[in-house]
Amino acid sequence: MYKPSLLFAASEVYPFAKSGGLADVAHSLPRALASAYEVSVVMPLYRCIDREKYAISALGEAFEIEMGAEKYPVELFGCEHEGLRHIFIYSPLLSEKEYLYGTPEKGYEDNAVRFGIFNYVIVSLLKRRDYAIAHLNDWQSALVPLLLKDEETINTKILYTIHNLAYQGTFEKSSLAELGLGEECFTMEGIEFYSMVSFMKAGIAYAHRVTTVSPTYAKEILTPEFGCGLEGFLRHHRNKLSGIINGINAEHFSPEHDSALVTPYSDLDGKALNKKAYLKEVGLKGAKKPLFVFVGRFTSQKGLDLLLQSLPKMASMECNIAFLGEGEEKYHAPLKEIMHRYPNIYLEFGYNEAHSHRMYAAADFLLMPSLFEPCGLNQMIAMAYGTMPLVHRVGGLADTVFSYTDFEPLTNRGYGLVFAKPREDLFLKAFKEALALYKNKRHYNRIIKHNMRRDFSWQESAKAYLELYAQLLK
Ligand code: ADP
Ligand code: GLC
Repeated sequence: MYKPSLLFAASEVYPFAKSGGLADVAHSLPRALASAYEVSVVMPLYRCIDREKYAISALGEAFEIEMGAEKYPVELFGCEHEGLRHIFIYSPLLSEKEYLYGTPEKGYEDNAVRFGIFNYVIVSLLKRRDYAIAHLNDWQSALVPLLLKDEETINTKILYTIHNLAYQGTFEKSSLAELGLGEECFTMEGIEFYSMVSFMKAGIAYAHRVTTVSPTYAKEILTPEFGCGLEGFLRHHRNKLSGIINGINAEHFSPEHDSALVTPYSDLDGKALNKKAYLKEVGLKGAKKPLFVFVGRFTSQKGLDLLLQSLPKMASMECNIAFLGEGEEKYHAPLKEIMHRYPNIYLEFGYNEAHSHRMYAAADFLLMPSLFEPCGLNQMIAMAYGTMPLVHRVGGLADTVFSYTDFEPLTNRGYGLVFAKPREDLFLKAFKEALALYKNKRHYNRIIKHNMRRDFSWQESAKAYLELYAQLLK
């Protein structure tokens, strides 16, 4: 069967390099599209990527790209991973850093140039081969449609997906020249943003279509509360903007087949064994008490301020709470301090995939009081593992978690505890409701069993992307 070709570009892809949900999406969405498209995934070849493990080898293509007044050496690498073609871009500035984007404190000074190189090489890939669709993700590849704006020889249709409007890739004006861009781009309709250069604006302005990762977030970003200063610009381009909810990789996040678990499970007895084992692993006491977990980046986005404010009160109630994550330094010390005060709080700093799976398996509730959440994957993973999410009703959380008080067994919805505004009193109220619901075991079990049977896979959303590509190709 003839399949049109699709170049899917992302700055992180699981399992090669991951800092958040984008990597999960860039891993699982291309696979879900591969039945209809011949997909190539392209990403930077960071130093942290294990070339040997994934049999990544040189493609025999080394060249220079010209950007501004400079030339940058580039070499292409590749591998087949789980049946999918991956292209890796090596260029010293882009690749030879310790972290992907910056230290925990701040982004690298030369990120404009680093990701400028990434964009220029994507353009050179599109010039070499006639891709039907280029699907770009987040600011790191958002310059591509601008660079192709006046290229008449390229027919590729471009979809740009915003995973998080809070990260826009804005840089000093001096980067305009470094990126080989002229003053004519530096306008309000173009990429100027409060006298800075904005990669994000290039994606929004010049891609043929723009999506974000949930229908609710697609509406929220048109408002000053969630638009991060781009709400007016997005409203201007709203005709090409829509929201498609993320899925999760149903094989990778399956309690039944999860090799990270002590006891993979498909029922609640099996889940209970995982809870026992986990409590022992981290030294928490009381398997009868509900276990709440938080997995994620310690940032204001994830509701860390609300959590810190409420934690002492939560910890004084009958429960255990475990944290896994890393992020802004300012949250580390207060988290540590609270952990030392309460024996029923466990805290681990760091990024640990296997540990996170054990937490999803062990927990009764997932805490996700995000201030804003473009989509969020944790809540879907949690539900697949029979862990009930407690969420702020915002963004993708509002689209995927419905209040247990409206539980209807015949729907395909997932249910959890939902609070309407990011306020301590409402958060604590939901927390207390969780404790009460947990005591009503029959009802609680019925809901989590319902959640475990829901389909959070990519199936439906992949169809929505395919439909959108088809519209673009018409
Ligand atoms: P984000 O805004 O960080 O992208 P998402 O909910 O979309 O949030 O995705 C987060 C992904 O990263 C999930 O797969 C989650 O399990 C994982 N994750 C986040 N922090 C950690 C951590 N410290 N250790 C392991 N996995 C983590
Ligand atoms: C971003 C968002 C998160 C979303 C992820 C994948 O990191 O913060 O909500 O799930 O991208 O789209």
